[in-house]
Amino acid sequence: MIHTLTLNPAIDRILYLSRFDKNITNRIQKTVDTIGGKGTHVSINLKILGKENTAFGISHGKSGQKVINMLNEYGIEVRFKHYDDGSRETRTNYLIIEDTGDCTIAAERGVTLKTEELNELLEDMKATIQPGDYLIFSGDASNSPDPSVYNKILEMFRDRDLKFFLDTSGKSLKECIRETPYMIKPNLDELSTLAGHPIAEDDASIVEAIESLDSYNVPIIAVSLGGDGSIVKAPEGYYRVHPPKVNVQNTIGCGDCFLSGFVYGLSEGYSIKDTIRIATAVSAATAESKLSAGYDLERAKELKEQVTIEKIK
Ligand SMILES: Nc1ncnc2c1ncn2[C@@H]1O[C@H](COP(=O)(O)OP(=O)(O)OP(=O)(O)O)[C@@H](O)[C@H]1O
Ligand SMILES: [Mg+2]
Repeated sequence: MIHTLTLNPAIDRILYLSRFDKNITNRIQKTVDTIGGKGTHVSINLKILGKENTAFGISHGKSGQKVINMLNEYGIEVRFKHYDDGSRETRTNYLIIEDTGDCTIAAERGVTLKTEELNELLEDMKATIQPGDYLIFSGDASNSPDPSVYNKILEMFRDRDLKFFLDTSGKSLKECIRETPYMIKPNLDELSTLAGHPIAEDDASIVEAIESLDSYNVPIIAVSLGGDGSIVKAPEGYYRVHPPKVNVQNTIGCGDCFLSGFVYGLSEGYSIKDTIRIATAVSAATAESKLSAGYDLERAKELKEQVTIEKIK
């Protein structure tokens, strides 16, 4: 079984503007509320690929209930702990999308979690997650009272031989990579955090930075490079991946979708190349969608044929 975890869910309020300028009144053409919080995106993207999964998380108030309802609409098994104390609300992030496809985000910090809330969630995870399951930690955990919360959770599952996927940033990425994830999906910024220095955007520098992480023994490291594709380190070697050219609408959530494609391919027993191909196709289809979660599966199937993969090492 596949499980995602979202400790800091959100409503992503997308504001469509023809263009965004500072220090003037910008007129909004359209507002759409969609689901935010990364782990939730992975759950939805997996479900579109036909993969059943459980979404664990913590939510608060009316907007938290809205997040739960959105997940339910996709038929995902929602195991969120929901709290309604009248004072705390799951955060709202504001995503400004211009006609050019440029995206600017203003994100709220999110509700600071209480230790009891986390403990309740962890009890439920402990009772549900079985040996050999896939566990996906996506997104921000900075609202947790404990900055190494992901590590604490993994300690709980040390004896269960889980396949654990990590897509986070900053301190939680640096801490949690020590727990030997099966896969990480840093973008260039996140790779720089791990390597401890800025990384030039050429293949050789990126490969060198990936190699500097060898001591962590992470079997799959997929460095995503937005419209430039990705470089993937797998046990078989290094691959340079070129995505299809698409008509970009909104690239927020492409990383979550790319990760979902990997989880899907690996859980279906696909070869690494076929896994990369599906991940690249679904994330390109996400770039073509106006929303940050979800994509057109038929379009993704078409795009799959246009992905090129080159073994570079
Ligand atoms: N413009 C694009 N055209 C085609 N594919 C894209 C485009 N942007 C992103 N992708 C695909 O999505 C993958 C992940 O994107 P990206 O590197 O932007 O992730 P990210 O920075 O983690 O994004 P986020 O955290 O917002 O989801 C890329 O490796 C690529 O395959
Ligand atoms: Mg990302």
